[in-house]
Amino acid sequence: MSSGNSISVRAADTGDRDGIAELLATAFGGRLGAEEREYRQRLFPVERSLVVADAGQVVGHTVDITMTVTVPGDRTVRACGVSAVAVAPTHRRRGLLRALYTAQHARTEADGLPLTIFTASEGTIYGRFGYDPAVTDTTVSIDRRRVEFRPTTPDPGGVVMATLESAAGHIRAVYERWQQRTSAAQERPEAKWALVFDDPEGRRSGVSSVFVLTHPDGYALYQRRRDAHESVVTVSEIRAVTPSAHAALWRVLLGLDLVDRVEATLAEDDPLPYLFTDPRTVRVTQRGDALWARVMDVPAALVARGYEGELDTVVDVHDPFRAAGGRFALRVRDGVADCSPTTRPADLSFDIAVLGALYFGGHRARALAAAHRIDVVDPAALRAFDAAFATARAPELGWFF
Ligand SMILES: CC(C)(COP(=O)(O)OP(=O)(O)OC[C@H]1O[C@@H](n2cnc3c(N)ncnc32)[C@H](O)[C@@H]1OP(=O)(O)O)[C@@H](O)C(=O)NCCC(=O)NCCS
Repeated sequence: MSSGNSISVRAADTGDRDGIAELLATAFGGRLGAEEREYRQRLFPVERSLVVADAGQVVGHTVDITMTVTVPGDRTVRACGVSAVAVAPTHRRRGLLRALYTAQHARTEADGLPLTIFTASEGTIYGRFGYDPAVTDTTVSIDRRRVEFRPTTPDPGGVVMATLESAAGHIRAVYERWQQRTSAAQERPEAKWALVFDDPEGRRSGVSSVFVLTHPDGYALYQRRRDAHESVVTVSEIRAVTPSAHAALWRVLLGLDLVDRVEATLAEDDPLPYLFTDPRTVRVTQRGDALWARVMDVPAALVARGYEGELDTVVDVHDPFRAAGGRFALRVRDGVADCSPTTRPADLSFDIAVLGALYFGGHRARALAAAHRIDVVDPAALRAFDAAFATARAPELGWFF
């Protein structure tokens, strides 16, 4: 990039590593230590980075890796997972992000991936590029000393104290079972597992190393910290593939003596609040978008997931940023979709971002229609569309990136 207006995006090489690290430190306000940079580099190799450079300095950056993600119907899709999006404060609002995303999308299209996903720093940036929040999570805080389990809540036991080293195989096996049945959960690459099991000191910032609890059908990872007036447990990850494992693990976590408060981030429909006599036991401190999604190829993406209920409809999809929109006939039989371009009149029309919102089952079409995000020609078509895209369980992000 020069002082003119032309922005040139190029693939990065190893010589860009320090420049990218400095840009990310400036954009996100924190410098990674050498050890953490090494982990990140293993997860997101520099060869997958796109950069904009100006006078030899890296001033814009994105990176992506292909992720295998569970989608409704217990199937998987290979999706482009984008991370570390940043533009230098000296070059902001000149269209660098737009140029980077145009190049990023071209690469994803060339890779034949029907979906792009990422976690966003702000809610105002990505709608214009066809993305919508796809998965919601809630962060909760529990006053441990006031916890009273309902008489109906089982106390199944079976929880064992473990270490990351001793439980590594078990944790991986449970995660895999959980991931295969949880929409939006990604497979974990080896580089990500290394970060979990090595628990590097540089990442702790004031909290203890990781404590581990295992159950034959679950595990919990947590850390402890001492605030000014209280002792806090932060559950960094809890995976339970049976209700019994869920109750057993929470019984132990909420029975930790000398702990005042327990924090955790949960799926929207986690049964935790129903375990207690006082429905206010679980206090929601934050609710937000855990994952954003964009459909890159409408027929390929819609055929890749499963559905509840039959459907025979025509949708008009608008995609002003890319040319992936059009009018499509969508037919579902026995949970399996057929989708192809059509000239039949549309029953429903919407921006492509709506498909991102609906894709993993995290949002309802009827709510988006009520918010004027879906134009409805035929109300019966909306009811069928809403039912077909709904899922029995809320989606959940597998790991942050
Ligand atoms: C967010 C960021 C990448 C934007 O880069 P940029 O090069 O300034 O963005 P562009 O100039 O290409 O903007 C494209 C459009 O997005 C809008 N936009 C960009 N950043 C925005 C923001 N933070 N909030 C609202 N709108 C934003 C621009 O106004 C522009 O709108 P237009 O299409 O109507 O003209 C950059 O500000 C940044 O690095 N921020 C800090 C790190 C960060 O938050 N990264 C995102 C991680 S998910």
